[in-house]
Amino acid sequence: MLEQFEGAATIEKVASLCRRRAFVFPSSDIYGGLGSSFDFGHYGVLLNDNVKGEWRRSLIQERDDVVALDSAIILNPEVWVASGHVAGFSDPLVDCRTCKLRFRADQLEQSACGKRPSKHPGEIPDCDLTEPREFNLMFETFVGPVREDASRAFLRPETAQGIFVNFKNITSSMRVKPPFGIAQIGKSFRNEITPGNFLFRMREFEQMEMEFFVPPAEAEEWHRYWVEARRRWHLDLGLRESHLRVRPHELSELSHYSSATSDIEYLYPIGWLELEGVANRGDYDLRQHSEASGTTLEWIGHEERYVPYVIEPAISVVRATLAFLCDAYDEEVVADRPRTLLRLHPRLAPVKAAVLPLIGKDTAMVEQARGLYEDLRKSMSAEYDDAAAIGKRYRRQDEIGTPWALTIDEQTLDDGTITLRDRDTLQQERIPLDGAKRLLLDKLEQPWQPRA
Ligand code: GAP
Repeated sequence: MLEQFEGAATIEKVASLCRRRAFVFPSSDIYGGLGSSFDFGHYGVLLNDNVKGEWRRSLIQERDDVVALDSAIILNPEVWVASGHVAGFSDPLVDCRTCKLRFRADQLEQSACGKRPSKHPGEIPDCDLTEPREFNLMFETFVGPVREDASRAFLRPETAQGIFVNFKNITSSMRVKPPFGIAQIGKSFRNEITPGNFLFRMREFEQMEMEFFVPPAEAEEWHRYWVEARRRWHLDLGLRESHLRVRPHELSELSHYSSATSDIEYLYPIGWLELEGVANRGDYDLRQHSEASGTTLEWIGHEERYVPYVIEPAISVVRATLAFLCDAYDEEVVADRPRTLLRLHPRLAPVKAAVLPLIGKDTAMVEQARGLYEDLRKSMSAEYDDAAAIGKRYRRQDEIGTPWALTIDEQTLDDGTITLRDRDTLQQERIPLDGAKRLLLDKLEQPWQPRA
């Protein structure tokens, strides 16, 4: 098992590229930021959208047993009582009477004193810690104009509960029958005590969750199926196999709702950490909501009636995006000049193709290039760039991970061919301008070898 990240990325280098190239900005930057809040710039939005698109493609579009949902962020507060989050969604917290910082009691080894930080993680030299107490992670708010207990509500800490409370709506309106899934992407909020490590732990993040309802006797088999299916998804989108491992939870680690969970962990440059969780939630949630709401939530077939078990793969967009960025980040020297690039899977890349007239002032070249660009962008995200030397334009596209550059030059005007430059191999080949769009669309469909 690897202990060290293989590759050129560090969290600092990835964060710096993300800022320089408009992927991610610190939030409320001009006011000094806000702990672990980030804003996504143009390329970050496109990359996140592609991550979500690939998740939807594999879970909804390419299957016929999963349907979509988009539920509200603020639900009836009774949902969170029944789900166990009001009583149980908490971390043990300790305060330091000296430096006034708060730490997670179960993660002191990652903490540092606010007054006298130690070079050695886990040594908090001058700290005088209180006894641990439970700190609920849900953000509270009030619905309506009166700030009183009766109007208290929560921002959802997981999207899953919106799915469970819609179980009856969906089984009675869609043609579904266990085993079937309900998939949802949306914002979740957690008042994390120790956020940090760039995008890894945020207080506001988008989750991609799917609740897969199965006959109880099939739950273990489906749990194994989804762990492997989700692991495959990450591999197919380019993560190195040596950077992925599956770790079953110890009993003491299980969430209040889970009877078994396996984490798909990724070897981030800061170590092995949870990328995605795949839980067997049993019939916990449907039973809790049946009891609390008085509405029976069960599957009623022709000859059978039961409360399904639930298998849940759950991941946040940011943890996936951060893993894809770390795996893709590379540095090399080409012709004595350093090159930084993102070897992103073409389907994840924010921009698929850059169209570049070799000489930006040549009217005939510009005209051909604009024509190609305007045609391409109807089918894929593309960029046109005629400013600066061609080498500089290539480097900029390398840094944002654009897999293909199409260059229009003198020869194009003679014979209608253009140059196709490959980001990873730097190989250039001449292809007919006319067939360029079809060629790229075909390439986007093909399996991709990141480091072939
Ligand atoms: N519905 C189950 C659930 O929410 P979880 O393990 O608490 O389970 C699921 O969260 C996934 O959400 C994690 O595997 C991780 O990808 C992501 N996640 C959780 N907390 C996060 C945070 N503070 N910042 C970013 N992503 C987070």
